[in-house]
Amino acid sequence: MKKRVLAGMRPTNLLHIGNYLGSTKGMLALQEDPKYETFYMVADLHAITTPYDPMIFQDATRNVIIDYISAGLDPKKSILFVQSHVVEHIELAYLFSTAVSVARMKHLPTYKEKVKQHPKNVTMALLYYPVLMAADILIYKADAVPVGIDQLPHLEITREIARKMNKKYRTNFPEPEQFKTKGEYVPSLMGEGKMSKSVEGSYINLTDGLEMIKNKLALAPTDSGKGSLQGGQYISNEANSGGGVKNIASSGGVKNLLIFVELFQGEKKRREYEKQYTTTGIKYKDLKEELAQAIYEDLLPIQKKRKELEKNPEYVNKVIKEGAVKAGKVAKKTLEEVKEKMGLL
Ligand code: TRP
Repeated sequence: MKKRVLAGMRPTNLLHIGNYLGSTKGMLALQEDPKYETFYMVADLHAITTPYDPMIFQDATRNVIIDYISAGLDPKKSILFVQSHVVEHIELAYLFSTAVSVARMKHLPTYKEKVKQHPKNVTMALLYYPVLMAADILIYKADAVPVGIDQLPHLEITREIARKMNKKYRTNFPEPEQFKTKGEYVPSLMGEGKMSKSVEGSYINLTDGLEMIKNKLALAPTDSGKGSLQGGQYISNEANSGGGVKNIASSGGVKNLLIFVELFQGEKKRREYEKQYTTTGIKYKDLKEELAQAIYEDLLPIQKKRKELEKNPEYVNKVIKEGAVKAGKVAKKTLEEVKEKMGLL
């Protein structure tokens, strides 16, 4: 039997290349692997656990489906659907909630972080977030979940729930594992931390044109281009640069730029630059020019596809409708099984 994969993305904003490399590329690889059956959803019910704008929410949700298809997810190969269209998720989440304690939920780092971010919105739904996520995954009995490290606490809860349910009610849920993708950690263009929508200048959108990408890369911090490589750190020579504090701050920028080089131009290219760094020196203007071109070429087919889809809303609607039917069939079966085992009439 094929292994099942479930992934979800909240409809919060346009995809940037961080999300793309971090998850969509992995989702694509899994779709093409005949060992897997892939379920990819838009986690709209998760998005409403924090403040959002109902006026633009329908569009935001459709946009994720459009992004998915543009990036190469194929409704003939993967089941693409909207979470709230498969109501069984909610019902299973409620049944699961009998197997987790309130204390366990309150202690999750992901919960605490959101409480800090939105102190006026500490709702039941927020506390419920991981239980619903466990239901998203287990309702399809998924074995593999392509998510970033920030989601690992939720995956742990999912496994706990699976174990508890199996023990208590003799269900047969798998204990799903994280599926790691190569670009799991995509750094910020600004040299510090990861690429994030909430950090100005840190990201490139999937919809950015060549000039925009060039402009953004132009602002990414660099150093003198020459120095030594020590334990993965680029230690710049003081020679041609302003020196001091600025120099130390910029070494993270160089490291990040070279991660982008590897992600978009390959490992060989990265090694070439590293060699230049310790010998002749890197010319960042040329590096950025070439890198911008490489990123743009990767994004071009995605942007073309997106334009086509925007002209064909009926097709997108059809994909969404059919996805809900296909996912719903599997979800109903699991839910019935659980209700029966739990002794519900
Ligand atoms: N919590 C996930 C995130 O913010 C989104 C999500 C919801 C999800 N349900 C899921 C991811 C199920 C994987 C599987 O990224």
